[in-house]
Amino acid sequence: MSLRIGDPAPNFKAQTSIGDIDFYEFLGDSWGVLFSHPADYTPVCTTELGRTALLKGEFDKRNVKVLALSVDSAESHKGWIKDINETQNTNVEFPIIADEDKKIADLYDMIHPNASETLTVRSLFVISPDKKVKLMLTYPASTGRNFNEVLRVIDSLQLTAKYSVATPADWNDGDDVVVMNSIKTEDIPERFPKGHKVIKPYLRTTPQPNK
Ligand code: BEZ
Repeated sequence: MSLRIGDPAPNFKAQTSIGDIDFYEFLGDSWGVLFSHPADYTPVCTTELGRTALLKGEFDKRNVKVLALSVDSAESHKGWIKDINETQNTNVEFPIIADEDKKIADLYDMIHPNASETLTVRSLFVISPDKKVKLMLTYPASTGRNFNEVLRVIDSLQLTAKYSVATPADWNDGDDVVVMNSIKTEDIPERFPKGHKVIKPYLRTTPQPNK
């Protein structure tokens, strides 16, 4: 059965472009982003991994460790990284998993046979420090992902892990947030002293509490 939000993220051992790793040990107490791409030495994948490397500072700020994955070999990954670094003006430091036997792809349901029998689709999982699946994205091979959106969701996940709030459509870090309906309206001033608006009894907003 495929993974769902809230499920434990399966652990695994893997060969990668930076050597052998145990997934949980690699993550430690950090958040994680595990994302698959169809194949090395392909154009969209080259831009995706380059973009991820360029965003290293943003992932570090959020205490997020990143791992990429495809069914190519570690040697192939190492050669391709040189091309990514050259063409995308970056330095790929995160591991690229060599999942030649497709064990991890199967664990995370990254092969969608009606898209390709052999290659992983563009799956992306955000994993919390307690090793739970918090976000799942699936894109086809022909569409590169928006890594600003990945950071935006991580901001939301990290905020909502700490406060009884949710983030509305198109929210970005710093915007007003929605107070969870588990909080009674009369209790909002104590919980959210920066102020609040009652738009409907079920729609109450407050300035982002950690800003
Ligand atoms: C790409 O990364 O450009 C790509 C990979 C597999 C299929 C289509 C495009």
